[in-house]
Amino acid sequence: MTVLVPTMGALHKGHQALIKRARTLDKDVIVSIFINPLQFENKEDLEKYPRTPQRDIEIATIAGANEVWFPEYEDLYPEGFKTLSAGPLGNKFEGASRPGHFDGVVTVVDRLFAIAKPDKAVFGEKDFQQLTIIKAMKSKVEIVAVPTVREFDGLAMSSRNVRLSERGRDIALVIHRALAAAKLAPTVEIAQEILNSTLSTEPGFEKDYATIIDEKDFSPANDGTENRRAIIAGWVEGVRLIDNMQMVGR
Ligand code: PAF
Repeated sequence: MTVLVPTMGALHKGHQALIKRARTLDKDVIVSIFINPLQFENKEDLEKYPRTPQRDIEIATIAGANEVWFPEYEDLYPEGFKTLSAGPLGNKFEGASRPGHFDGVVTVVDRLFAIAKPDKAVFGEKDFQQLTIIKAMKSKVEIVAVPTVREFDGLAMSSRNVRLSERGRDIALVIHRALAAAKLAPTVEIAQEILNSTLSTEPGFEKDYATIIDEKDFSPANDGTENRRAIIAGWVEGVRLIDNMQMVGR
């Protein structure tokens, strides 16, 4: 059996957790590293995406990968390839702010699966909308989810964090503060108020969205929603950051 961990490189402890989880599923673990241009609607974001291939090989190997795969653009996208559609969820939240992003994600995941032919693939909950969309792909590959890995102070691990200054990193902590404070709120309305008021304490955080959704389809949650989750996205020093947390309040 083969387990695939698709990544775009710049590996950190969050990726290590994915690889370690993969290793618990089987000893044949492939980590793919490919910065997928199709999922970047912003050229500058693509150019600035960190690239650390040598370090990535070390991190992946230490975490338990037995193959680190750097596919070439032409391998994944032969002439005449077709972009897939991520469906309606692909146009909400991250998809609304980043048009075409999720179409690019499902297209590359489909191609990675077609070539590597894994039995299982591991993805992080940090990109919860991505995870939900990939789970909905009509694929035989079993999708295994891994909880978000955080720094000691709650900041979600992300390859983009290295682009933040020390001050920017401090500002970014407001995201986790807002999520953690809203988590236990007794109603959705109170949770929403907590998200808004906490985020507004940090002028350096430029909010894109902060809301409570139904995990099933990302429709607005209400107090009767069984599985609700707070999702936040915004910019700090021009760097886009996203995070999410399951709400436990009833
Ligand atoms: O989450 C990521 O790193 C990417 O979106 C993925 C799943 C590797 C597809 O390029």
